[in-house]
Amino acid sequence: MNAQQRTDQARQRTADSAFIRACRREPVPHTPVWFMRQAGRSLPEYRKVREGTAMLESCMRPDLVTEITLQPVRRHGVDAAIYFSDIVVPLKAVGLDLDIKPGVGPVVAEPIRTRADLDRLRPLEPDDVSYVTEAIGMLTGELGGTPLIGFAGAPFTLASYLVEGGPSRNHERTKALMYGDPQLWADLLDRLAGITAAFLKVQIEAGASAVQLFDSWVGALAPEDYRRSVMPASAKVFDAVASYGVPRIHFGVGTGELLGLMGEAGADVVGVDWRVPLAEATRRVGADKALQGNLDPAVLFAPEQAVRAKAREVLDSAKAAPGHVFNLGHGVLPNTEPDALTRLVEFVHQTTEAR
Ligand code: CP3
Repeated sequence: MNAQQRTDQARQRTADSAFIRACRREPVPHTPVWFMRQAGRSLPEYRKVREGTAMLESCMRPDLVTEITLQPVRRHGVDAAIYFSDIVVPLKAVGLDLDIKPGVGPVVAEPIRTRADLDRLRPLEPDDVSYVTEAIGMLTGELGGTPLIGFAGAPFTLASYLVEGGPSRNHERTKALMYGDPQLWADLLDRLAGITAAFLKVQIEAGASAVQLFDSWVGALAPEDYRRSVMPASAKVFDAVASYGVPRIHFGVGTGELLGLMGEAGADVVGVDWRVPLAEATRRVGADKALQGNLDPAVLFAPEQAVRAKAREVLDSAKAAPGHVFNLGHGVLPNTEPDALTRLVEFVHQTTEAR
């Protein structure tokens, strides 16, 4: 089977799923649910299979990727799987010296801050990530009608790690480059857009039914700076995968003031955190896009009744949206009780089936 046939087959198998239908703003049997970071440390079975294997190494092992991706689907009955990887995997694949430090996040040995540094960012070739193609082939076989979401980090969020050299609260070096050398900044984001687009194409051609672009830290920017300095690169990524026709989700944290622009960048579905009610988010994004979100992940530490009350608020607010994928407003926190997530999936399904 060639790449086109694989793409077509995966799309046909999942076209009628609640998740894909909601992304397309079509009627659904129930509101679909998945959770960002649904695979990971909240699950004892994840901690067990990861024992003795470093994070980046596990991302390059198709057997481990397949098992870890399937774990939350088996346990929680979520409506979609998300490919187990990390946003820095394609950067590692083009040869950058970086690692993921437990409890810290991605750390880059030699940060990218000058024009000469840009030369280290070569384009991504599909052969650099052949383990992704292999893992997705295994996964789509196991998943059947359950969609697989591919993902990548957006140019701004990737640039922040590369310029800072690691996680950053204020993104000061990143912003210094963005304001101080706009041409170098634009060239850096453009290269990252190329790598990100190539990485998403590999996932779609291997059989992913949707893709999510994570611009987790872009909420640090004012709208005008986003429009001028970031949106062109993110739009390039969305344009590059538009012709496949798979739903494209765009997510960031603290992006209330950017939601309209993030939709305009080329998304079909806009991810919203818990700071903006979904009814208001729909006003900001427009009626031609679905929304994803937006329960505060910390709510899951409250008693069951409180979780249900907050989830119901999300569902009620989402009635104003033309399509809704239930999710958290950011990733599952590592100490979350797994049963609380399973009960939340059941609650959302039962509540919305009855409607
Ligand atoms: O289930 C899923 O959602 C898929 C897995 C996934 C991971 N990283 C696995 C991971 C996804 C979608 C990501 C994306 C990612 N990685 C983002 C965007 C999403 C977001 O949360 O905003 C970002 C910013 C990163 C960078 C990164 N990688 C961070 C901040 C961390 C956490 C560091 C820590 O230890 O607290 C990582 C490591 C990482 N990525 C882990 C997992 C499961 C934890 C490492 C481990 O289990 O050993």
